[in-house]
Amino acid sequence: MKHGIDTKVLSLPKTKIAIIGVGNCASALIQGLHYYEKTQKETVGLRYPKLSGMHPRDIEVVAAYDIDDRKVGKDLSQAILAPPNNAPKLARVSHLNVTVQKGPVLDGLGEQTRTIIKTSRQPEVDISETLKEAEAEIVLNLLPSGASKASGYYAKQAIAAGCAYINTTPNFIASKTSWQNRFKEAELPLVGDDLIDQVGATTLHKTLLKLLSMNGVHITQTYQLDVGGGTESLDTLERTRDIKRKVKTESVEASLPYKAEIVAGSTDYVDFLQNRRDSYFWIRGVHFCNVPMQIDLKLSTVDAPNAGSVLLDVIRAVRIALNRKMKGAIIPICAYAFKHPPKMLSLEMSEKMFTDFVTRNQGPQ
Ligand SMILES: NC(=O)c1ccc[n+]([C@@H]2O[C@H](COP(=O)([O-])OP(=O)(O)OC[C@H]3O[C@@H](n4cnc5c(N)ncnc54)[C@H](O)[C@@H]3O)[C@@H](O)[C@H]2O)c1
Repeated sequence: MKHGIDTKVLSLPKTKIAIIGVGNCASALIQGLHYYEKTQKETVGLRYPKLSGMHPRDIEVVAAYDIDDRKVGKDLSQAILAPPNNAPKLARVSHLNVTVQKGPVLDGLGEQTRTIIKTSRQPEVDISETLKEAEAEIVLNLLPSGASKASGYYAKQAIAAGCAYINTTPNFIASKTSWQNRFKEAELPLVGDDLIDQVGATTLHKTLLKLLSMNGVHITQTYQLDVGGGTESLDTLERTRDIKRKVKTESVEASLPYKAEIVAGSTDYVDFLQNRRDSYFWIRGVHFCNVPMQIDLKLSTVDAPNAGSVLLDVIRAVRIALNRKMKGAIIPICAYAFKHPPKMLSLEMSEKMFTDFVTRNQGPQ
């Protein structure tokens, strides 16, 4: 007992997040929170079982927004399993007492996704007011990658509600000076853009190129292409193929100390793959005495769970930034977890910066 309080029953206050877009990624994240809460000793699949003393159970979803008729008005535990979501079942999620609310559609739907998503007729709620009512501290943007206007709209709502903002989409927000300044003025943290997967094509590609170049191989040409079956792959095909190619290619380029011909992008939507993603890599180079070598590889993953571990790290790291009253783009988090950070750093540098960030005791930025 300390000051009359039983310290054994004290636990960390939960980090309250609001989710924008209850799609596949949201489904994997919420199921993951339940999975690791039930099996608290389980560490398989987590890069940081505890991050600065925080466990995934210290995260709580307090609000969620979508536009799909099959999700709006439903408890979040049901909405995450509603079609067109096709992320696998990972854990049993009991009633969450969080009703999915209707947000404005804006550019949330493309020509293709419009054919599989039916917009709810329920009235739109006031986003900043409902964020405040729910006492959300962090807004997590999981909108489709083509939702550029909507990503900006929800960023403004986050500022109005006094929330930090995580942008997992490839729309440039955290990497744009104008947005960084807006969050600085509001004294709120901002991180993004375009989340990097735990074992995704970009991570594997960068690691392979790094390994080869460290071993004296000179890479001349390489590509990375993928096909997937989630709604996001359909949206990418129609609206964001070019921007994704640019973001991924720049990210992969940063892993080599010299210029090579590099192409990294998403190629197609294959509906029967469901939430799976197949990525193909081809690398050509020369090693000792200019002798040629070549690698052909295929990586098969399930898309949404691939984002889970990194998302848990980002949410807890943003909690640290909030505790330290940091504002604007938080570079160590952006560089560690996103493909298009405000500053592109090498793999080693971004790892080191993140480790230093989550372990050191630092004052306001
Ligand atoms: N491994 C990963 O899954 C991964 C990795 C990196 C980045 N991302 C990014 O995460 C984002 C989400 O991916 P996903 O696979 O969950 O997508 P998804 O298409 O499964 O989900 C998007 C959700 O947003 C909803 N939505 C559309 N417009 C909306 C609006 N205006 N307001 C509220 N909700 C709206 C849709 O109805 C859907 O439920 C994408 O931008 C993707 O690029 C995902």
